Amino acid sequence: MQIISSSIGNYIIRNCKNDDLSSVIDVNVNTLPENYTNYFYETLLTELPEAFLVAEISDKCVGYIMCTMEYGFSNFKKLGFVKKGHVVSIAVLENHRGRGIGTALITGALFGIKSKKCDELYLEVRCSNEIAVKLYEKLGFVVKNMLKTYYKDGEDAYLMAIEFNY
Ligand SMILES: CC(C)(COP(=O)(O)OP(=O)(O)OC[C@H]1O[C@@H](n2cnc3c(N)ncnc32)[C@H](O)[C@@H]1OP(=O)(O)O)[C@@H](O)C(=O)NCCC(=O)NCCS
Repeated sequence: MQIISSSIGNYIIRNCKNDDLSSVIDVNVNTLPENYTNYFYETLLTELPEAFLVAEISDKCVGYIMCTMEYGFSNFKKLGFVKKGHVVSIAVLENHRGRGIGTALITGALFGIKSKKCDELYLEVRCSNEIAVKLYEKLGFVVKNMLKTYYKDGEDAYLMAIEFNY
């Protein structure tokens, strides 16, 4: 497995471990309305540990990113069938935002996803989430589609994607 470990200030970005999952779940429920079962987290960690990362400071988890991988139609090539990574969820605790952690988590996940030789990475983001949209654009993602009433509360999502050239 591709090991990821980097630091940003006093924060460490590294692969998630089973022991981290309860803290990851705490960050998720404190930051996002989209929540998941414990089994779902365990499955993602088992299936794609290369792109399941946490940010920690003083042994406290303050952020995470988790992804899946699938085969499907390309977001870039007409009629192309490709191997795609999918960012399922990313979040940083509010008190720790604006310090580069989100950028570092996505950069790390891109590295992990590329190590699996994926052709693309995509995600959904609320159209109102300007901070996240800007962050993804800064890292090379482009809006490829708008998904009407994607979220349970009826809000639309942008489907954003990035293509890799090896
Ligand atoms: C999106 C999110 C993960 C970004 O995390 P982060 O650690 O703040 O990210 P960064 O520090 O790398 O900042 C990313 C950009 O957002 C900007 N930003 C961060 N907080 C901001 C704020 N409160 N107001 C305006 N801009 C802000 C930063 O200036 C930075 O831009 P820059 O790189 O041009 O300077 C975080 O805002 C979050 O957890 N939000 C709630 C969950 C969420 O929306 N997840 C995404 C679902 S698709």
